[in-house]
Amino acid sequence: MPAALLITGASQLLTLRGRGPRRGNSLCNLGIIKDGALLVREGLIAAVGPRGKVEGSAEAKSAEKMDLGGRVVLPGFVDSHTHLIHAGSRAEEYELKIEGASYEEIARKGGGILNSVKKLRAATAGALKKRAHAALAQFASYGTTTIEAKSGYGLDVENELKILELHRELSGEQPLEIASTFLGAHVVPEEFRARADGAAKYVELLISTLMPEVARLELAEFCDVFCERGAFTLDQSKTILDAGRRQGLAPRIHAEQLSRTGATQLAAEIGAASCDHLEQVNKDDIRALGKSNTVATLLPGCDFHLGLKQYAQARALIDAGAIVALATDYNPGTSPTLSMPMILSLACTQLRMTPAEAIAAATINAAYALRREKRIGSLEVGKQADLAVFGVADYREIPYYFGMNTCSMTMKRGVVIHGAV
Ligand code: NIG
Ligand code: FE
Repeated sequence: MPAALLITGASQLLTLRGRGPRRGNSLCNLGIIKDGALLVREGLIAAVGPRGKVEGSAEAKSAEKMDLGGRVVLPGFVDSHTHLIHAGSRAEEYELKIEGASYEEIARKGGGILNSVKKLRAATAGALKKRAHAALAQFASYGTTTIEAKSGYGLDVENELKILELHRELSGEQPLEIASTFLGAHVVPEEFRARADGAAKYVELLISTLMPEVARLELAEFCDVFCERGAFTLDQSKTILDAGRRQGLAPRIHAEQLSRTGATQLAAEIGAASCDHLEQVNKDDIRALGKSNTVATLLPGCDFHLGLKQYAQARALIDAGAIVALATDYNPGTSPTLSMPMILSLACTQLRMTPAEAIAAATINAAYALRREKRIGSLEVGKQADLAVFGVADYREIPYYFGMNTCSMTMKRGVVIHGAV
């Protein structure tokens, strides 16, 4: 049996220990241990606590040693909303937006998601994989150890399957864990738009042809819908998510990003794993989330990148008792970043979340959004040794140094996947 690994020198060890997801006041409880240590055995946490306690055991004494020299250690970030596989940037649209065009205007002219669909269909699986590998290495370099990844730039049988198969291949070829989501319902593709019943026909294709294939090949855990004007209506979203659930895909939904559609209440009603964005929610939506187990995933990178002024009402959601998570929404149209520390910075300054709340939202609550809270999201005995180590004196400096990368080491299942001590 390989030796265990004793990690010491954590000036602040943020354990995030405790039961279940964090709501309300408990969101700021990081379970910090000063001068903490961890014992890692076979990729799992065998012991965690103050150095004096952990290093005393016989196993710790004979273990391999790693001294972090006084750094801040936290659970690896869980990025619970990404559009990992895409063929290239949309920098040309970025410039148009700066000059005054809105995201929706660009989409109506065939840009936006359809622009990325064109690019993806023209790209080989090999080229997409190469790009994704580079992105995954970048995620790791910012302290992320698990991501969710959505399809949604293929929008036909061949290309949606091409994306989902890449999720699976990438899971086997590199260390980050990937939770795969089927987002065939991103928008109605070009070839269905000419006919009046095109949207209905596309929904039928999704439900009768594509989803059964995704389920049969076990290519996704979740089914997502972009419920938005110009994308899918509330009724269509419900039909698609219900069908997904019947085929074993747990629902999640893009809700109230640019307009209010009622998607949040639908998410709460059907017990979706998460509803994401939420810039346009009203009081009833907030109340519904406060009472539900559906995670409210906030994506401030979108508002920042699009230059929008209306960020989600994080404080009201937290006060109502909602399970708030944070994610990058890494995608070429609205949030081209894979840096969770940058998202924490935006959460602090724009959503008025404290650094502690932002960290809990990006770890344990995000793990809950991916239904993985029993394995990841906190540093507790029996959980995976997924860690992010930051070269800072105090955890508040992680969001404080915005746009900088202070992550000095990342570990997945006990293996260093980025940096060194
Ligand atoms: O989460 N809203 C839908 N999907 C993305 C945008 C995708 C795109 O513009 O390419 C989002 O913001
Ligand atoms: Fe998204």
